[in-house]
Amino acid sequence: MNRVLTSRGILASALLVAGIGVAHAADLNVETLDLSKMSAGWQKPLANKSVAGADLKVAGQTFARGIGTHADSQLAINVFGTATHFSALVGIDDEAEGKGSVVFEIYADGKLKATSGVMHANNKPKRLEADITGAKQIALVAQSNDDGIDYDHADWLEPTLTLNDAAPVKPVAVEAPNLAGVDDEAPLPIFASAKPSAEPQIHGARVVGSTPGRPFLFAVPTTGEGPLKFSAKGLPTGLKIDADTGFITGTLGSAGTYTVALEVRGPRGVARRNLTLIAGAHKLAQTPPLGWNSWNIYYCGVDEDKVRAATDEIVSLGLQKHGFRYVNIDDCWQAPRLADGTIGVNTKFGEMKALGDYIHSKGLLFGIYSSPGPKTCAGYDGSYGHEDQDAKSYASWGVDYLKHDWCSYGGVADGNGPTPMDGLERQKHPYATMRRALDGASRDIVYSLCQYGMGDVWKWGADPDISANLWRTTGDIGPSYASMTNIGFAQSDHALYAGPGHWNDPDMLFLHALKPNEQLTHLTLWSLLAAPLLIGSDLSKATPFTLDALSNDEMIDIDQDPLGHAAERRAQRGSTQVWSRPLWNGTIAVGLFNLGRAKTKVSAKWIELGLRGAQPVRDVWARHDMGRFTDEVALDVPAHGAQYLIIGTPNAADYTAQGR
Ligand code: GLA
Repeated sequence: MNRVLTSRGILASALLVAGIGVAHAADLNVETLDLSKMSAGWQKPLANKSVAGADLKVAGQTFARGIGTHADSQLAINVFGTATHFSALVGIDDEAEGKGSVVFEIYADGKLKATSGVMHANNKPKRLEADITGAKQIALVAQSNDDGIDYDHADWLEPTLTLNDAAPVKPVAVEAPNLAGVDDEAPLPIFASAKPSAEPQIHGARVVGSTPGRPFLFAVPTTGEGPLKFSAKGLPTGLKIDADTGFITGTLGSAGTYTVALEVRGPRGVARRNLTLIAGAHKLAQTPPLGWNSWNIYYCGVDEDKVRAATDEIVSLGLQKHGFRYVNIDDCWQAPRLADGTIGVNTKFGEMKALGDYIHSKGLLFGIYSSPGPKTCAGYDGSYGHEDQDAKSYASWGVDYLKHDWCSYGGVADGNGPTPMDGLERQKHPYATMRRALDGASRDIVYSLCQYGMGDVWKWGADPDISANLWRTTGDIGPSYASMTNIGFAQSDHALYAGPGHWNDPDMLFLHALKPNEQLTHLTLWSLLAAPLLIGSDLSKATPFTLDALSNDEMIDIDQDPLGHAAERRAQRGSTQVWSRPLWNGTIAVGLFNLGRAKTKVSAKWIELGLRGAQPVRDVWARHDMGRFTDEVALDVPAHGAQYLIIGTPNAADYTAQGR
């Protein structure tokens, strides 16, 4: 890191040399810090260039020094109490073609110290400075105004930290979750009735699929005071339920649709619910997968201890009782192939079969990751040319879920393989190959495509030759509100392609990077979208708020709704949006979203939701009935937050998938 002495620093040094006791100050040019730690809503922040790589230029004035970024953006700097002052000019880069609006802010230890107000394109650069004496961490934040992030090319010009004489440690840029941004409004009162009832209650999927002849495991997700005793009437031949654990295991004999009457008895009562079992080829993931994945928290630092810890935590924190059941290892578990071509497992993991057995012993399911290309995205061996062998290895380890990530396959498709491919063939070929391999393995393995939405995957991912259970619709989600909302609110157009057995996947959850109200937006939107809910966090560090939100059975019930209709946007007014999806019992789930920076009222209007007359409204997060409303329900929604409603009168008490 360079420290650049400016004239002030030189003067102070000179005075000190001359024996005059003034404070010695030195300035640090902030663009010299490690900008890979800085987040941006588009592309990557650059030193001394605009975010698109041109000269930094605001209102016709060019600057040699600064940072070009894109809202929403944050740079967190640990200053360790060594800095006294921050100063910069801020503005929207001229490359934004006269569009864009950004608010620049400086935070010190989470407190707002200075704001530019809304800056528009062509505004002259504005001076932003703050006394940061004593602060441990500061954050430079550039946020979109309430109109979305398009064209928000945000420049920090000549950004300078003044360091005090003591400065034994140098300031350092750090990755930090959304330190600053919206007003710190209290989250919605989701704790009000968060305690699970002592009476037994059955949660999670109402419909589960399996292939006859292959091992089956479904642990009935149940809350309530124990000891609980489980029973099931109508289980097809080959399956049994363990009365103490509620694990349904065995192997289904023949294809068909079976209605199983589940019953759970405890000291505080009895719960009953129908579970539909659909047995046949390619019938997995009748509802979106719920679970955990290592990538968004550990990246390549994943190891067996962490996976076992996540397994244990899903159980001990009660998430399993609400329906979470997959434990998925992402990239970075592999070692080079053995002489016979079998995929190796690196030293961070022991026996994969033992790990699989451990996960299954808890009633949970085991997921793994590979690429159809020769290399995974992190550079490990992919499955190219070894698909059958890999599928057999996975089956022998007890793998229940495969995420298959395109990564290096482009090189194969472009001609490094036997034949160059184009059009739809290019997109489908690698996934059809692995589908055949999975069909040849002796185990049910949920098939998750990860190719970032290329070739409108939602239009062909469910074709019989692919039979994907889910497909990523976007690039990678990042640890920020901007990334989550950019992805989530762009999902309306392909809603119709999702359904039982084949889901749109807008990528995994990033709850630990978000503020409470933003977490509610993430979960409200993802469950409305019928998205897989794969927790990407270190569960041992999850806050009570996050765990309560994840354990909200009504939110999960919407995500797992057996009709499988994904939500669509019904209205957009300024920075607010309304989304809804129909549910199996005739009610609808409605999300009221506020993407703006201040609390505002958002209205769900019957005319936009296809409703008429007086309708009962239930608050999903607070878990209480709000009474009947006519024509609309208008509620306050906190900045970056969401209200989650169920509207309508249920027309049935239990679900059975007759004739599905
Ligand atoms: C890609 C995927 C991510 C993750 C990494 C692993 O970027 O989109 O979800 O699996 O690869 O390398």
